[in-house]
This record gives sequence, C-alpha cells and structure tokens, in this order.
Amino acid sequence: MNASHNDAGDTTILIFGASGDLTARKLIPALFQLSRQGYLNERCPVIGVARRAKSDEQFRNELQASVLKDESVAAWERFSRQLFYRQVDITKEADYVNLGQATAQLEQQLGTEADAPRIVYLATTPSLFDDAVCGLHAAGMIPAERKHSDRLRVVVEKPFGHDVKSAEILNEQLRNRLNEDQIYRIDHYLGKETVQNILLFRFGNAFFEPLLNRNHVDNVQITVAESIGMEGGRGGYYDTSGALRDVLQNHLLQLLCLIGMDPPALFQAREIRDEKMKLLQALRPGVEGHVDSWAVRGQYTEGLVDKQPALAYRDEQRVPPKSSRETYVAMHVEIDNWRWAGVPFYLRTGKRMSERVTEIAIQFKHPPLNLFSTIECDGDLCNIVEARRNQLVLRIQPQESIFLGFSTKRPGMQYQVQPVAMDFDYEDHFTSQLPEAYERLLLDVMRGDSTLFTRSDELLAAWRFVAPVLQHWETGPAGLEFYPAGTWGPAAADRMLAESRRVWREPKV
Ligand code: BG6
Repeated sequence: MNASHNDAGDTTILIFGASGDLTARKLIPALFQLSRQGYLNERCPVIGVARRAKSDEQFRNELQASVLKDESVAAWERFSRQLFYRQVDITKEADYVNLGQATAQLEQQLGTEADAPRIVYLATTPSLFDDAVCGLHAAGMIPAERKHSDRLRVVVEKPFGHDVKSAEILNEQLRNRLNEDQIYRIDHYLGKETVQNILLFRFGNAFFEPLLNRNHVDNVQITVAESIGMEGGRGGYYDTSGALRDVLQNHLLQLLCLIGMDPPALFQAREIRDEKMKLLQALRPGVEGHVDSWAVRGQYTEGLVDKQPALAYRDEQRVPPKSSRETYVAMHVEIDNWRWAGVPFYLRTGKRMSERVTEIAIQFKHPPLNLFSTIECDGDLCNIVEARRNQLVLRIQPQESIFLGFSTKRPGMQYQVQPVAMDFDYEDHFTSQLPEAYERLLLDVMRGDSTLFTRSDELLAAWRFVAPVLQHWETGPAGLEFYPAGTWGPAAADRMLAESRRVWREPKV
C-alpha cells in the first residue's frame, strides 16, 4: 500500500442529501482538497445519496463546476473516479439494504481495507435524521457490538433542534441506535483555523493567560457581524430561525467557551469539552431581572451596504411582510466562576451590518492611577484624552490577526498619549492559504477525533441558556428595534452598554 505522509487511512464517506447546496458548496470542495493534499486516498469511496435518479457521471459533472479552478482539471479527474451516486429514499427502509450492498461493492472495487470506518454525513433536514439512522440500523450498517462502533460515524449538521425539547428529541433519536462517540455534531466555527488558534494562543503562551481573569479584564466583546442579508432565497429558513438560533446559540457561544474556559488537563476531546461544559454551566444573564435588560433584538430596515442599496428584511424574498423575526441579537452575560465573576461579556451578531467581521475583543482595566492625559482642541472645543483601555483582539475573520492595543508617548516635548497597536497578521507570516473549516472537520471525523465537535451536553446547555430569551420573544414583537442595513445594529444595544458606561468597539477591517 502506498500511504502518503498525510493519509488519514481508508474510509468510506456517504453523503445523505447529496443534491443539496452544502454538498456542492462545502463538502465536495473540502474532500477534493483533502484528496489533493494526500489526506484522502484513492481507496476511499465518496458516495452521494439522494432521492432523485442520477448516474455517477451526472453527479460528477454537476459537482465539477463547483470545485474546478483552472489548474485542477487533472486532480479533479483523479478524484472523481472515487465519487459515486446512489439513489435512496431516506424514508424507505428497503432502500438501505441496496445502499449497504452498493457500498460494500464500491469498497471492493476500490480496494478499501476491510473494516475501514464508514462516515455517514447527514446533510439533510433534521426531521430525516431518525429515518436515516433507523434505515442504517435495519440494513445492518451500524455495528452491533460496541467495540466495533467506531466503524460507523455519523455527522450531523445544524440546526440541531429549535429549542431544548426538540434538541433533546433529536439526541434521543440518534442515541437510540448510536453511541455518543459515534455522533459528530458540526459547528463549522470550530473548524476555522483562527478559532482553533484560540486555545493554542491562550494555553501555549505564558504571558497572556495570567491576565485573563476578573482582576485585569474590564469586559469582553464578541462580535459575529455579517454584511450579507437573505441572499439565495434564504429568508424562508431564516424566518423560522433568527439570529439567536442561527448564530448565537452555537457559533457565538462556542467562541465564548473557548475564550473563557479554564485550561484542560490534557489536550484531548473529553477534557476540552468538559471545560467548555463547566463554563456553560456557569453562564448567567449579565443583569438580574427581565430578559429585556440583558438581551436585545433588532431587525434591519432598508439601507446601504458597501454603498449598495439593501432591502429591508421584511421585503426580502420569502420573508412575511410583518415578520418580527430578529436579524440581530446582543446579550450581556456573565460567567459566574472564580476566574470571571463580575466581568461583563457582551455578545452580538447580526445580518446586514456595516462590515463582515468576527472578533473577540478583550478590554483590560485602566491602570489604577491615571497619570497621563492630553488636552486636544478642535477650535474652541477642547477634550481631555486619556490613555485608552489596553485591548487584546483576536480577529477570526476576515484579515485574520491578533493585535494588542496600548498607549504610547507621542514624540514631542509633552507627555501626549497616543494609542498604537502591535499586530500579528496571518497573511504576513504564513504564505499558504488557511484551510477551509470543512476540510479540517471532515479530516477529524476520518481520524475519529471529536475534539472540534459539540457534545450533546454542551449543546443542551446552550439551548437551556437561551431558552428564557426565546420564550420571551415568542410572546410578541415587544422590544424589537429596527436598524438601517449597513449599520452596527439597533440603539437598544448601545443603551445596554451605556448602562455601565461602556461602548461597543467598532471593528475596523
Ligand atoms: C451559518 C449560519 O451557520 O453560519 C449563516 O446559518 C451564517 O446564517 C454563517 O451566515 C456564518 O458563517 P461564516 O463562516 O460565513 O462566518
């Protein structure tokens, strides 16, 4: 056997929902890249499964357009030889027997190692998860003995539930036939290079970590801002979800876990997830009392994004004209433990905001005594400029970087304060392109490493935390504020910080 240095070993990959957008946009391009880099060898069949009748050839041709860059024709031709399509109605148990036989036959054809793991990627609506797992079970594709359970791994996409109850039901359906360690719940944020770097940055360096606690940190702001709206007819789905379910409950809380958790005893899946779980258990509303005092929602009206006119949310395709669904959410939360007690964490995410930017900004306390301030005048108007808070900003995307903001003396005959930054930019240091999140995550499933996937208890804890907000918002549109597309969100979010005389950082991309 001719294993390359990177080769993750033989694996069969079955993608359910192979006609969907995710398969063409993310999964196949990621597998193609893994194949080009030698991680996915030619003995690994990749089998697309969906309801429509289609030949292997048709399937390959359809996908070719979504992955092909000029120089990669030969590589695609090589890769497409291991790409197949099988017609399956996910709801029909009988179809799984044929699928089982077809899979075995294709493995034989490609010379896949006997007992190599099989990965079933459920890129379907969650309402089909149960049918899929029951069908796999009925066809004998789920190993009966626990010691062989690692031979079948099931990957599920978000949305994983709509609230606590529905997430519990989905969990139960999967756990009826599978063990927890066979289930890989994807949160693609965890596969982003810069998100993975949070743990290394914190626990692989000696000088930042001792500062990350209530003694030194004034507040932490986590922003996941998007400038896109409801492109591609996404309004239909989005209107059943909203910013809280779509991004805050998963991506944003995962970022919070990574920046706030304590160091794990070992850099291993269980230990890391245990620490994240402890943090989620310590999560509290930042203000006692009514939901409106710590959670704010907004919806965009028409405006300008990147100097282009943008529609109001209610005028977007497939969005009901009177929708009160939030396209923006901001929260003030606290982590009630020894490290963070009393430190406000401000979270915000929204569509159609000024910029696309995801970042974590840690703002430090002022020095105990303010010795330096500058008087700056503009005409008759004079202001006292004091040293700004020191900041540590982890920019997740775009222009991935880490920078430290601090004050320095402006050269001259007086002590004048000048804010400056020390910058680490990925682009300046690494020539290779950052890998796509799905490449890393698919490779991890092939390797059987679940570190970057969400465990069921984490997921339920996240749903439980947001439950009171969801319930409150479900009762009516009270408190929904509007913001023009292309701005940083509703005024209510500014007021929330102004209560404690703080302001949102304006990320400059
Ligand atoms: C998805 C959400 O999970 O994440 C989308 O459903 C959102 O609404 C996307 O646009 C953001 O991901 P990224 O990687 O573009 O920041």
